[in-house]
Amino acid sequence: MNHKQWTEVDHYITDLLVPPDPVLDAMLQASDAAGLPPHNVSPNQGKLLMLLALIQRAHTILEIGTLGGYSTIWLARALPADGRLITLESNPKHAEVARDNIARAGLAHLVEVRVGRAIDTLPQLATEGQHPFDLIFIDADKPSNPEYFVWALKLSRQGSLIIADNVVRNGVVIEANSDDPSVKGVRRFHELLAAEPRVSATAIQTVGSKGYDGFAIAFVTSED
Ligand code: SAH
Ligand code: DHB
Ligand code: MG
Repeated sequence: MNHKQWTEVDHYITDLLVPPDPVLDAMLQASDAAGLPPHNVSPNQGKLLMLLALIQRAHTILEIGTLGGYSTIWLARALPADGRLITLESNPKHAEVARDNIARAGLAHLVEVRVGRAIDTLPQLATEGQHPFDLIFIDADKPSNPEYFVWALKLSRQGSLIIADNVVRNGVVIEANSDDPSVKGVRRFHELLAAEPRVSATAIQTVGSKGYDGFAIAFVTSED
């Protein structure tokens, strides 16, 4: 098995189950033209995020790490008409491209793109009383995953769902002595999940057009 085969199988799945989507195709083209890196989730992963938000009947969603708004659009499509999604992005250019993409997807009325380092904007959300969020997707700078998980819990309620992308990292996650800050962050994140009595969590490995990585998912079973 190799990346070529994973990609072909992803195309097979996507061709059958994720219908052609001019809005998403156009937004990926716009993001590419603006020079954004192709770090968005894959189409079938994006649809998984939408399905999880639908299963969760989410009215309020928080995303940490917007990029061009690809995962944002999938998640926002699961919201009811009075729903709300706040997405946090530190790079002003990424945020600007995302706002345009989200507007062209007809979702601007549901989505707020907030610019700033998430470690600064997360406490603002708490102060403003924007919480609790029904679903929180963590997908920004991986060294900060432990802090983001702590904030995600603070901004949750019993029954919230916390999801994190890129938790396997080509399998390097098992290297206990790694000095890669992203690996350290993701390992610490898994340890926090394990030690946290307020969540029930698991992680799955994924292969596909985005390579070998994984998702973690934590269900908040009780409040503070
Ligand atoms: N969720 C997106 C991909 C996000 S890529 C998708 O699947 O479509 C990660 C994003 O996190 C990048 O846009 C990067 O600029 C942003 N980021 C990096 N460090 C950050 C920080 N400290 N606070 C907020 N966003 C950050
Ligand atoms: C990369 C992939 C991601 O899903 C992400 O959130 C950040 C970076 C990458 O391929 O480098
Ligand atoms: Mg990611």
